[in-house]
Amino acid sequence: MFAGQTDFLKGVVAMSGLPPSDRLEVCFAGRSNVGKSSLINALTGRKGLARASNTPGRTQEINFFTVGEEHYLVDLPGYGYANAPVAVVEKWQKLLKQYLSGRQNLRRAFVLIDSRHGIKKVDEEILSLLDSAAVTFQVVMTKADKVKAADREAILKQVREKLAKHPAAFPEIIVTSSEKGDGIPTLRAIISTLI
Ligand code: GTP
Ligand code: MG
Repeated sequence: MFAGQTDFLKGVVAMSGLPPSDRLEVCFAGRSNVGKSSLINALTGRKGLARASNTPGRTQEINFFTVGEEHYLVDLPGYGYANAPVAVVEKWQKLLKQYLSGRQNLRRAFVLIDSRHGIKKVDEEILSLLDSAAVTFQVVMTKADKVKAADREAILKQVREKLAKHPAAFPEIIVTSSEKGDGIPTLRAIISTLI
């Protein structure tokens, strides 16, 4: 459903700029630099579609991508540390939270967690916000290529334990590498069942 069908629609800096909620969407949230934009590129098979970079805070708008005529994929600005002025960061963090708690047509939020680091305090804050807003979220582990299998398992155990405390969490965790392609077909299939 993705290949050749996905296009950039618009970048949004205020709630008033959101496209009408007349079609289903899924979004990608996570700490700055966790790999949200890279994941969208891997899913769509289009390398430069969402701009990825080594600088935390690269994505500063809510970016909407159309999938065919009927759906949106949404690339969110990161939370946590960002290499950008404080006032600017505060503005987009507010927008991020407003979006996550108030978007009617949002089918699921994919929350990306770095395979090396697991769930951090800043992640917990977003997970609790999603609980309160009753938005189902699913964890996607990123950058699996950067960790050894044994370390990955230990982190996954921590993530499972933390997720058990969140009522809005979808239990299945998807392990991915945008670099190597691991888990990408699985995630694509899950998204296809949602939107
Ligand atoms: P912000 O927009 O700043 O919040 O970041 P982001 O979450 O969109 O991260 P982005 O996709 O820009 O990736 C950040 C860095 O991680 C880039 O240098 C990517 O090349 C790298 N990266 C992303 N995914 C992977 C992966 O699966 N494996 C490896 N090794 N590197 C990755
Ligand atoms: Mg980004």
